[in-house]
Amino acid sequence: MSPEIHSTKDGSSTLYSDQFEQFYHNPNGAATESIHVFFETSGLTEHLKKGKSLAVLEVGFGTGLNFLLLADLLIECKINIPVRFYSIEAFPIDTETAKGFDFTGHIKNQELNSILPEVFDKIKPGMNMLGPIDELDLELHLFYGSFDEFRPDNLQVDYIFHDPFSPEVNEELWTMETFLKLHSLSKLETVLATYCAASKARGAMCAAGWHVARAQGALGKREMTLASLSKEKLKGFKRVNEERLAHRYTTDDFD
Ligand SMILES: C[S@@+](CC[C@H](N)C(=O)[O-])C[C@H]1O[C@@H](n2cnc3c(N)ncnc32)[C@H](O)[C@@H]1O
Repeated sequence: MSPEIHSTKDGSSTLYSDQFEQFYHNPNGAATESIHVFFETSGLTEHLKKGKSLAVLEVGFGTGLNFLLLADLLIECKINIPVRFYSIEAFPIDTETAKGFDFTGHIKNQELNSILPEVFDKIKPGMNMLGPIDELDLELHLFYGSFDEFRPDNLQVDYIFHDPFSPEVNEELWTMETFLKLHSLSKLETVLATYCAASKARGAMCAAGWHVARAQGALGKREMTLASLSKEKLKGFKRVNEERLAHRYTTDDFD
């Protein structure tokens, strides 16, 4: 059964998953939270404005909103550098659902609205490539399969959008093993961003060797999380007690 479309408080669409019993986004504003967590707080928008090429890995393609926001930003800022967006999705939605999305208030280039239905129309198990998109040097590499099955050759990304459902319902994507795998797909300067602020999730990151910091959450949420293999990249953010959280995680002190 297709997930049902809902409008969030900033006017952008989200879905409700009966399978995970959770919304895909913050009901207070899907697009607003995405921009805050993955584009602004992570430093990605700044990175792009410096004209640096970019590779992103997203865990959980969902509606495709983050990819749409990135394409819109590139057009809006007239950034024409190589951008590769890798994303993983085990349960893609159907084309008709994607046609019902309304992100119009949050993207400036309305011609992009046809991208998501096209992506879901063409998707096949395994790796799917779409692009270049419009006049941009932007490619989408969408893996239809589970995170476990995703085994790319030589992939090292600059940013990770860690966007599964919450740890309570999507536990397998918040383990030390998950963050070890993401570590192996990262460079020293890679920044991982997530809306989640749960101590156990942070403990799993620390146990996998990430430096971890708190940041201001979106839309009234107290905190979100940033992680990097480089302490420098987290400068200006308050780091968690990594040793203590890693110890708590590895001794099952969160259960
Ligand atoms: C919170 S939603 C993602 C929201 C998305 N980034 C967006 O902007 O719409 C989480 C997504 O992760 C997917 N997912 C859950 N478990 C997964 C797994 N083990 N492997 C791959 N995808 C998974 C779900 O199907 C869902 O689409």
